Amino acid sequence: MAPDTPSDTAVAVPGISGKRVLVTGASSGLGVHFARLFAEHGAHVTAAERWVGNVEDLCTEIVASGGQAQALQLNVPDPASVQTGLEAQGFEIVINNAGTKVSTSALDHTQGDIDNIIDTSLKGVFHVAQTAARQMKDADQRGSIVNAASKGDVLQLTRALALEWARYGIRVNVLCLSYIETELNHVFFDSEPGKALIRRVPQRRLAQPQDLDGAILLLASDLGRYMIGADIAVDSGHLVLSL
Ligand SMILES: NC(=O)c1ccc[n+]([C@@H]2O[C@H](COP(=O)([O-])OP(=O)(O)OC[C@H]3O[C@@H](n4cnc5c(N)ncnc54)[C@H](OP(=O)(O)O)[C@@H]3O)[C@@H](O)[C@H]2O)c1
Repeated sequence: MAPDTPSDTAVAVPGISGKRVLVTGASSGLGVHFARLFAEHGAHVTAAERWVGNVEDLCTEIVASGGQAQALQLNVPDPASVQTGLEAQGFEIVINNAGTKVSTSALDHTQGDIDNIIDTSLKGVFHVAQTAARQMKDADQRGSIVNAASKGDVLQLTRALALEWARYGIRVNVLCLSYIETELNHVFFDSEPGKALIRRVPQRRLAQPQDLDGAILLLASDLGRYMIGADIAVDSGHLVLSL
């Protein structure tokens, strides 16, 4: 059988072109890919990162290839940074992608490790979603927020926010991911334990960022207009592996 590799999935997606799209954590991995993806579909992309210099090359590249992009300094665990960064931006689509992880066993996690994970991957998602949603509500403007979940807490947060904000025309949904090959994890997947894990993936390969395109465009765009609090697993059957 031919290897199951990503192919060109460029199709017209309603409700992306011309929209103001924020991608957090856009300096590496999935964030870089999502920024390029939404720009390719005609969005005005804001690539955000805590060190703005880390996203300027990406924005230059997008603009050079005919897209629209601007860089934004945004430290997601810091509510003041989020407030300042999002002020008057009027984002219509928010890709809550910034996150962090700790590679050690939970037995070895320090208090600092735990704080970093919760502050970035949970509180950061909340700060960005809340600030963007307040602006959407105040402007009486519909919007879509897509969270990239690494932990179940983001799944539950997504459901709660989705229920509360649906009445304002703000949809909140979540992508549930397993193993995507990015800067976050390549050291582990180059190791023997990492290679052993790949052999247990039903499709026997890690996901590439492009494997998420269909799901993220569905959730973010008008194609997903009746989806709120939904979770889409893009995980090569990770969740059903125990069957
Ligand atoms: N890759 C996977 O297999 C996988 C699986 C499940 C879930 N996810 C989730 O998907 C998202 C993207 O993952 P990835 O693999 O692309 O990871 P990545 O390459 O490490 O990218 C994470 C991004 O978040 C940024 N970030 C970290 N702390 C931040 C902060 N305080 N403020 C603003 N930005 C911050 C990072 O920038 P810096 O350079 O500043 O750190 C980076 O741009 C994460 O939320 C991750 O938890 C990934």
